[in-house]
Parts: sequence; structure tokens; C-alpha cells
Amino acid sequence: MPRVADVDTVVFDAYGTLFDIEDENWAPADVVLTMRRKQLEYTWLLSLMGGYQDFPTLSRRAIEYAKAIYDEYSLDVDNVMRRLLHLPPFPDVAAGLKRLGAGRRLAILSNGHPDDLEQLCVHAGLRTRFQWLISAHEVRIYKPAPAVYKLALERTGTPRERLLFVSANSWDVAGAAASGLRAAWVNRTGDPPQPIGGQPEVMVRDLEELAAALE
Ligand code: LAC
Repeated sequence: MPRVADVDTVVFDAYGTLFDIEDENWAPADVVLTMRRKQLEYTWLLSLMGGYQDFPTLSRRAIEYAKAIYDEYSLDVDNVMRRLLHLPPFPDVAAGLKRLGAGRRLAILSNGHPDDLEQLCVHAGLRTRFQWLISAHEVRIYKPAPAVYKLALERTGTPRERLLFVSANSWDVAGAAASGLRAAWVNRTGDPPQPIGGQPEVMVRDLEELAAALE
């Protein structure tokens, strides 16, 4: 495991990295996957078109799409929207954040709406771990647009060389690294490397392994 040195501030992606958005307790696996893929697709399409709608609106559209595809499940869209505010953190997150936060400042940088990020963190008992919850909503464009990653530097006031961005989404890691951020990939699912964009400085399986690399 390579050592990741000189990091003062660790900035995390939210969905899929800290919170399990593909958790199958709230809907069957195919629905969850379809909803997640559509949700991301809508953010990318709109950003390419130069448009913007907030993340809850796009999540609702994505759930409606999944409902239309899988009509046998009679999805309750409002109920799924509520569940999205109470996603479980991955099992390594509480202990990983505690270790990573020792002597460092922690933040979230997410496509999610600021109010939703707040609720997710409070519900998971993690709110006090983070000094900043930073949202793409501030710049009205979604990751992997460079303007969003730039927010991490601006809002935390950390020099580029002392900030580490952490995501489990390989496209997000590629985007962050392409924008010039140091990046770590929490490869929770054993994905193959992302062939486009920038490369992570380190790849780990979970946040505990990341903490070990930083210590
Ligand atoms: C996030 C999603 C895109 O930014 O993973 O939290």
C-alpha cells in the first residue's frame, strides 16, 4: 500500500462513497441500479446542455423512469424519495472517518442538494465529522465539471497539494484528478480502472484502508 503523505483536508463524495445509494432494502436491485444510472445520466446530460435542475428533481425523474420500466413493483415515488434522505452509511464509514479526521479537516463535495446532504449526515450520526458540506448546487453544474472540484479548494481554503478528494465512483475520481486534484479511489466493487480522465494517487477497498495509507 503506497503511503499518501501531506494531506490536511480530506474531501469525500457522498452517494456510493459514504452512503449506500444502491442499498437494496428500499427497492429491488434492478430498480435501484436503474434509478442510480438514470440519476447520473440526467446530471451529465443537463450539464453538457448547459442546463441545470437540482439533484432532488433529477432523482425524482430517475425514480419515475424506474417505475415506468419496472411497473410490476408499483414503486411509491414519494416513499423512495424519503428513503434517499436516510441512506445507510457503508460499514467502514464511521470508523474510517474517525481515523481520517484525527488531525485533519473533513468535508463532503457532492452533486447532492445541500439540504439533503445535511439530512443524510445528521441521520447517520456523522454530521459533526465534517467541517464543510459542499454542493454542486452552488455552481449549478454537476461533477465531473471542473468548476465543482474547484469549489473544494475554494471553500476549504486548502492548497491543492494538501487536499485529497475521495470517491468510490471511478468517473468522479477521473474527473477530480483531471481537474488537478489529488484523488483516492475507494474501489468498493472491484471495478476495472477508468480509462478516461485522470488517475488516482491510490486505490483502496474502504475508508479504513485509506486511513492506514494516510497514517
Ligand atoms: C455525489 C454522487 C454523484 O456527488 O455520487 O455524491
